[in-house]
Formats: sequence, structure tokens, C-alpha cells
Amino acid sequence: DTSLRALASKQGLRIGTAVDAAELGTDKPYTDIVAGQFSTVTPENAMKWESVEPSRGVYDWKQADELVRFAQQHGQAVRGHTLMWHNQLPGWLTTGVANGSISDTQLRDILHQHVTDEVTHFKGKVWQWDVANEVFANSWETPGADGLNADDFWIEHLGPGVVADVFRWAHKADPKALLMYNDYNITGEDGTNVKFQAVYDFVKKLRAQGVPIDGIGEQGHLDTQYGFDAHRYQADLQAFGDLGLKVAVTEADVRTFVDDATDQVPTDALAQYAQPYEFSELLKGCELVRQCVSFTAWGVYDGDSWIPGTFSGEGYGLLYDVNLKPKPAYSTLQQDLKLA
Ligand code: G3I
Repeated sequence: DTSLRALASKQGLRIGTAVDAAELGTDKPYTDIVAGQFSTVTPENAMKWESVEPSRGVYDWKQADELVRFAQQHGQAVRGHTLMWHNQLPGWLTTGVANGSISDTQLRDILHQHVTDEVTHFKGKVWQWDVANEVFANSWETPGADGLNADDFWIEHLGPGVVADVFRWAHKADPKALLMYNDYNITGEDGTNVKFQAVYDFVKKLRAQGVPIDGIGEQGHLDTQYGFDAHRYQADLQAFGDLGLKVAVTEADVRTFVDDATDQVPTDALAQYAQPYEFSELLKGCELVRQCVSFTAWGVYDGDSWIPGTFSGEGYGLLYDVNLKPKPAYSTLQQDLKLA
């Protein structure tokens, strides 16, 4: 068995993918790849707040439950994503806050309830939770207390103390789940290591205060032109590991730049080398750090990815092409896992 999941299991590592809950079960080749290649799955959108509580007090767990059931049937561990994030909040919540019908005190209670209800619903079924997502400032944003992003929705309304609180609330609801802080650009793809230092100092402080935080997810959204510093990335993962934390690569993709004329071929001649290389460095960083528990790609194939919707003229960042055929990046990861 040379599937990614079989090769990775020999070193106690889980290999994962983000899953489009609507495509799972309806698209057979897609579903076969998810089941056959990966030992952990992350719902790309199905566990986000707008998905699970579209109207206030009315929960819809259908898609997420189906995904969890699929995972159980296929011996996969679920990464729950995500409990506190400024994006994909339900309209009733953002509107209520904007028009003043939800006060900050009420907002705090609503968040507490949300975290408790969601973690309780999936109690015993989620391996890792991305408890808080993307609350630290990048070098181009305004750092507030502890280097948190002062303009983040949650920090702005509830203050920096809310980060420790969501971990406490989640832990209370499911004491066995691994509770992660998840972010991009922690290891500075922007040439600085501002975010790493802030996250490092902050989690060190939280741990000293007994806050139940178990690990750090480095998302790993890269591109073929900017590259990244693989040595620093590994050192950063190790630094978190040395604090007694688990680490995970949670949202790996390496986007390339699309040719305007064909809308297919990356314009960057080096992309065909850079993409497998960068995937490989992300995986190797994880393999070389004992505390790294999982490596997850942010989607299965180039036909279904968030990239073109966010970065116009960019795409093709995953392990399978638009026809669900494995790309060189796939074979490279396979090779890395074989050699380890
Ligand atoms: O569900 C609606 C559908 O009803 C509607 O017809 C359609 C029309 O556009 O939109 C659908 O919602 C989209 C949703 O994905 C589900 O497909 C949203 O517009 C779209 O914005 C949303 O994008 C997601 C994005 O987060 C939004 O923040 C991406 O799929 C998802 O990959 C992306 O994931 C994030 C991680 O959660 C956190 N880290 C960064 C990463 C990439 O942005």
C-alpha cells in the first residue's frame, strides 16, 4: 500500500485533507481519494459558525455529522475547524453587532454558548479543534496587546482575554480533544518573524497560567514565487514543540500563477519545480519535529480550491489536478514518506 496514509502511519503521522462536504459522497473519484489517501479530514466549511447555526438558536449539523460519520467509517481522525474566527459568521450575529442589538456582553455569552454547544455536539468525535483562528497581527496589521490583531472582530469586541477563555470553554466541553491555535504566516512568509514571536510568547504565557492549549497549527498557504524559509519554519515548529506543545501543518497549499491566455499553465517556469519542493519542505518540517502530529492539505484537487476566488490569476495549488489526477507534488510527498 503506497497511499499517503499508509506510508505516513509507519511514522505515526496522519496525512489529511480539507473536505468539501457537498462533494463528499456525490463525486465518486473525489470520495475514493479522500477515503484512500488520507487518515485525517478537516471540514473546509461545514463546521464553521454560519454553517452550523444559520439562524439564531437553530442548529444544522447535517453536513458536519455526515463528514464525521464518513471519517469514522474510514478510520480517519477529524480536525474540527473552527470555533472562533472573524470570517463566515452567521448574518444574524454580524448584523446584530453592527446595529447594536447585540451588546458586547451579550456577544461574549453568545460565543461561550456557541463553543460549548459545538464542542459538546462533537464530543469524543473530534481529534483536534482549531479553537481560535487567525487572531494575531501580521506585519502589515495593527498589533494590539500581546501582538493580537487589534482590528480582529473578536479582539475588538471582547478584548485579548477572550482567547484564553475560548480554550477554557472548549476544554470544559470536551476535555480529551486536542485544542489548537491555528494561523497562517506564523513563520513569516512576509520576510519577518513578527507573528511567530507573538504567538510563541503568548502561548508560553497561557501555558504558564494553566490555560488548556495543546498545540499550534501552522496553516502553510504558500506560493511558488514568494517561497518561504524552510529552515526557519522547521525551527519554529521545533520551538513550539519544545514548549511541550503539539504542532500540525493544517492548511497546506502552494499556489501558482495562471497564464491569462490558457487559464491553465502556470506562467512561472519554475512553478513545476517550486510546487513539489515547497510541499516537500512543509512535510519534512513536520516529519523532523517529533511533536508534529498531522499534515493536512487545504483541499483535494485544483478544481475545488479557495485560491482563485481570493487571489485572482492564481491557483493550481493542490496535490491533484483539475481531473483528479495526482501531480508531481503528490509523488514527491509519497517519496518523502517512503524515505523517512
Ligand atoms: O455556501 C455558499 C453557497 O450557498 C453559494 O451559492 C456560494 C456562491 O459563492 O457561496 C458559498 O459559500 C462559499 C463557501 O466558501 C462555501 O463554498 C463562500 O462564498 C466562500 O467565501 C467560502 O470560502 C471559504 C473561505 O475559507 C471563506 O472564508 C473557502 O471555501 C475555504 O477554503 C476558506 O478556508 C480558510 C480557512 O477556513 C482558514 N484559513 C484560510 C483559509 C483560506 O481562506
